[in-house]
Formats: sequence, C-alpha cells, structure tokens
Amino acid sequence: MLTAQEIKPDVWWVGGIDWNARSFHGYTTERGITYNAYLIMDEKVTLVDTTKACFADELVQRISQVVDPSRIDYVVSNHVEMDHSGSIPKIMELAPNATIVTSDPAGLAGLKAHYGDAYTYRGVKTGDTLAIGKRTLTFVQTPMVHWPDNMVTYDAADKLLFSNDAFGQHFASSKHFDVENDMAEVMHQAKKYYANIVQPYGMQAGKAVAAVRGLDVDMIAPSHGIIWTEHIDDILTAYESWTTTQLAEKAVVVYDSMWNSTATMAKAVCEAFVEEGVEAHLFDLKVNHPSDVMTEFLDSRYVCVGSPTLNSQMLANVSGFLTYMRGLSPRNAARVGLAFGSYGWAPLGPKNVGKVLEEAGFQLPVETQAVNWIPSQEVLDGLQGTVRSMIEAAK
Ligand code: FEO
Repeated sequence: MLTAQEIKPDVWWVGGIDWNARSFHGYTTERGITYNAYLIMDEKVTLVDTTKACFADELVQRISQVVDPSRIDYVVSNHVEMDHSGSIPKIMELAPNATIVTSDPAGLAGLKAHYGDAYTYRGVKTGDTLAIGKRTLTFVQTPMVHWPDNMVTYDAADKLLFSNDAFGQHFASSKHFDVENDMAEVMHQAKKYYANIVQPYGMQAGKAVAAVRGLDVDMIAPSHGIIWTEHIDDILTAYESWTTTQLAEKAVVVYDSMWNSTATMAKAVCEAFVEEGVEAHLFDLKVNHPSDVMTEFLDSRYVCVGSPTLNSQMLANVSGFLTYMRGLSPRNAARVGLAFGSYGWAPLGPKNVGKVLEEAGFQLPVETQAVNWIPSQEVLDGLQGTVRSMIEAAK
C-alpha cells in the first residue's frame, strides 16, 4: 500500500511521485516530478487537485488509506492542466456525487472541454468561499500562473495555502517538507521551474506573490515538489526577485560549433568576463539543454550567443535555443547581448544571431563579432577587449 502523509492535522498529502520523469513540456526534469494532491478530512471530505491520469491508481490507494474515496464531497481543481486534473474522471467514478469546484469562467470551460459537462461543477471567483466544516476555504484566481484558469485555495484555519503551480519545483522526494531536503537543490529546481514554466507570466506571478504576502500562512503546499514551511520567506523573496527581473553581474555564454572556431571564441568571451570579476557560465549546446541555460539566464545581465555559419544560417541547435528563449518572453531591456561566431565565406550565422538578439530587445552596445575561418590569438585578444568594452558600456 502506498503511503499517505499527514501534513497538518486531518490534512493529508495523497499525490503521486514520478521518480523517473525526465521531461516536462521538453524541459529536462533530472530530479523527477511529483503531482501533489491533498485530502482535507472535515465534515465535507475535500480533495484539492488530483494527479496526472497515469497516477490515478496511486492517488486512489493513498486516499483509501485515510477514507473511502466514495465519501469525497468536493474536488477542488485549482488548475485544468492534465498533470493536476487527469485523475478527475477516476475520482468522479468512485465519488459520483462529488462537486468539482473550479475557477469561473476559465476553469469551468477548461474542465468541461476536457472531461465533459456530466459532472456537478461549482464555479468560484476571487474571494468566494466554501464552508467544509471547521474550515472555510477561500479561493483566489491567479490567471496565467500558469494557464488562464489557475487559482489558489487558502485554508485560513490551518494557515495553509494550496498554491498549485506557483512555488513548485520538479523534485521527486519521499520527504515532503522543505527542511527535510537539500535546500540548495530544492531552490535550484524552484529557479529552473520558474525560468522554464512561470517566466512568461512574471507580472501575474508577482501579483500572486503580493497576495500571498498579505495572508497569514505557515505552510505553502504547491502541486509540484516539496511543501514550504521553514523556507516560505526564501521562496517568496526569490519570486519577488525573479518576477521583477533583478539581474546579477553575471554572464551566460551559449554556443554551438563545427570545427572549434566558435568554441574557441566562446571560451575567450567567457574568460574575459572572469578576468573582469563577472560570474560566467559557458554552455555548449551539444551537451547542455536549453532549459538549463535558461535557469542561469534568468538573473544574468550578459547573454552572449555564438554560432558559425552553416548553409547561410546559424546552427540548428542555436536557432532552437533562441526560439525557446524568446518563447519564454524574458524581459530583455536591461540585458546586454553579444552575438559572435566564425564563418568560411559568408558571416550569416553570427549576423543572424545578432538580428534575433536585437529583435528580442537586448541592449547591443558592440557589433556582432564574426571571424573568418580560425581566430588567431590577436583576434581573440581583440574579442576579449570588445567584451571589456561591453561591460564598461553597461555600467
Ligand atoms: Fe503543473 Fe500548469 O501544470
């Protein structure tokens, strides 16, 4: 029998753990994924969120440790996305008289589109409440964190916020609380999650954080990863920094290369930052995933992207990274960009990188650095001087 865990008196974690998941929407999840669902045992038995459909049996087994699933009165669906709603059909099969509570109108429309309108639904708006016995749940809509339907559920009696995607991390662990885990790794995974999932909706996430700051909360239970207790202020402070694009004196140097000329340039660019006392990260896209680059990109002032020319274009790894980066809609106005790369007879690879950085809204204080064939030491010295000029211009 799989184990349910009581996280507050009469509030149970009953979710699923996908230890071996290595990808979510194409972003790498090297520490696995959890789909957290929570069971509140009150006069009205209430399930907050479910799991991905393939974890329905795991969810039901855990609920069954605490209560017969047929006794569930309410299923609160904070988010339509199928990693949280996928087991609703299974729960409704076992508890056909339960009412599904979701945001009005986006949650209602989304759930009906996915699962039909045969179930009993109740739509809620921000400030609406649901009395379930000793507890009264309050709902706050948080649209675009991370779909239009998202909401969070606040249980004031327990000082407990069910935050769904907000404050989540893709991190599988048998230990459910922050203090039981390696916090450096948890915060890294929270940053990776924000950079790759929440970043496009930073403005809305910022409003959600401000709303949470106004609540009396001693536990935040997201739908992915560990539950925040002792480190609530750490994750809220981190979100306040990420949602307002606080940039560090830090550089990411991202490239692909064919015959090592662009790689040599990338290393010279990276070293120039190091010599100037700027933290630098070098990513060869042949061996680094764009989602890991974006984690470091999130708070980097300098973004340097290199590609040689291949068939009049940049290399596909580089265009793929740039497409992924632009899709995450980072705020780039305060970022400083540099395009570079080598070429044989046409400098179109590096020049096209420069065009994309310009279209993305980066500051480009120096010209694209395109080098014919193999960079000499003199050329590399000049490139490093250009990087120093760029740093100076950014001060
Ligand atoms: Fe974890 Fe937007 O779903």
